[in-house]
This record gives sequence, structure tokens and C-alpha cells, in this order.
Amino acid sequence: MRAFAALLLGCTLSMAALPVSARVVGIELPADVSVLRASPLPGYTVAQQKCGICHSADYVNFQPPGMDLEQWTAEMNKMQHSYGAALDELELRLVAAYLAVTYGTAQATDPQVLALSVEARKASEEKVLMAKGASIDVPALLNANACLCHAIDQKLVGPAFKEVAAAYRGETDAQAKVVTSIRQGVVGQWGPVPMPAMSTLSDAQLNALAEFVLKQ
Ligand code: HEC
Repeated sequence: MRAFAALLLGCTLSMAALPVSARVVGIELPADVSVLRASPLPGYTVAQQKCGICHSADYVNFQPPGMDLEQWTAEMNKMQHSYGAALDELELRLVAAYLAVTYGTAQATDPQVLALSVEARKASEEKVLMAKGASIDVPALLNANACLCHAIDQKLVGPAFKEVAAAYRGETDAQAKVVTSIRQGVVGQWGPVPMPAMSTLSDAQLNALAEFVLKQ
């Protein structure tokens, strides 16, 4: 501190000795440290999305170097538990691994880090499948939503799914029409008994059901 004060004083003195015009010098700013360091690890993307909400990346950049995976995981636990950072369990571990590799002592080739990347890839593939409706359990949906007023190939209270599929065959927007029928309910199209609206189903579930019916 004393050395710093002396330096400052020296600086001021030498500047005072210069003519005014000579004091206008270019100012070189330090390199921008307030962004997170880029990385191919999946935790980098998560950190970009989730960490800037409350504070700048300086909080990370100014942590002491040399922290290992365990220490970074403890930091991220603190972010989640004490400060309410919106991270799920996998995201928390992904960010910790990214930070430990990029700012600390972990290596991208550590088995724990590699395993996490595999887990992240699987989780994101599952999300894509869910979005497509491919992993929706259609029989369970049929059971849970009174869809069993219909049978596949014979008329019960409602028309057979095969009849419905046949009626829509060749229509270009069959899928959208059947989704609407299931969501809003129908009456009069097939007989006097109305089909109730299934308004609590998600778009993905409605699409999966419509696809199932039209396939019969
Ligand atoms: C909901 C708000 C919030 C979010 C989101 C958040 N933090 Fe923080 N973080 C804080 C607060 C508040 C502090 C300051 C605590 C203090 O001053 O002691 C902090 C401090 C820190 C510190 C310094 C901790 C220390 O011990 O000095 C680091 C490192 C950090 N955050 C990293 C992150 C990372 C990485 C993320 C993204 C996963 C993140 N934070 C997301 C609120 C948040």
C-alpha cells in the first residue's frame, strides 16, 4: 500500500512537471473481463443464459484461481440455494464443471467432466423427443382421458378410430382438425352423443393422440 501511494505521488509529481498539452495521452483500457470465457463445454451455454440475470461475469473472473470441481460445485450450490439462481440439478453440475475446467484446476478430459457432457447430450435429446411427442405414452393418455368411448375398430359410444382415420384420409389438414376436435370437443359430426372437450391436454399430447387416431 505504501509502495502504491509512493507510485501515485511520483506519478502526480511527474505529471505536474509536464506542460499541459503533453498530458493528453491515449488511455488503454484493460481487456474486457466482464464476459465469461468461451468453452465448448455445455455448462458455458447454461452459464451464459442463467448467470447474467443477477450479476456480471466479474464475480466469476475475480474468484481465486485454482478452485477444483468440488469447490466450484459448492459455489454453484450457494448460488442456487442461498441466492435463488434458477438452475436445475444437472445445470448446476454442468456450470460447475465448465467453471472448474475454464477457471480452475479440472481438465476437460476428467472422467467426471466427460460423463456430465454425455448426460447433458442425452437430456437435450430427450427434450427434443418430448417436443416432437415421440415419447408420449398414448395408451396411458387414452386411459386417463375417457378416450375409451372409442375402440380401434368398432363403434362404441364414439366412432371407431379406424372410421375417424378413414373419414380424414386424404385431407391435408387432418392432423390439425383432429387436434381441434379433441381439444374443443365435437357434437353432431358422428352422432348425437357429444364428445367432451379435452382442454387440459398439452399441444404435444393432443398431437400425439391425433397422430395415433389418424394412423388407424
Ligand atoms: C438470483 C441471483 C443470482 C444468480 C442467478 C447467480 N448469482 Fe452468483 N451471486 C449472487 C449474489 C447475490 C452474490 C453475492 C454474494 C455476496 O456478495 O456475498 C453472488 C456471488 C457470486 C460469486 C462470488 C461468490 C463468492 O463466494 O465470492 C460467484 C463466483 C458467482 N456468484 C457465480 C455465479 C454463477 C456462475 C452463476 C450462474 C450459474 C450465478 N452466480 C448466478 C446472486 C446470483
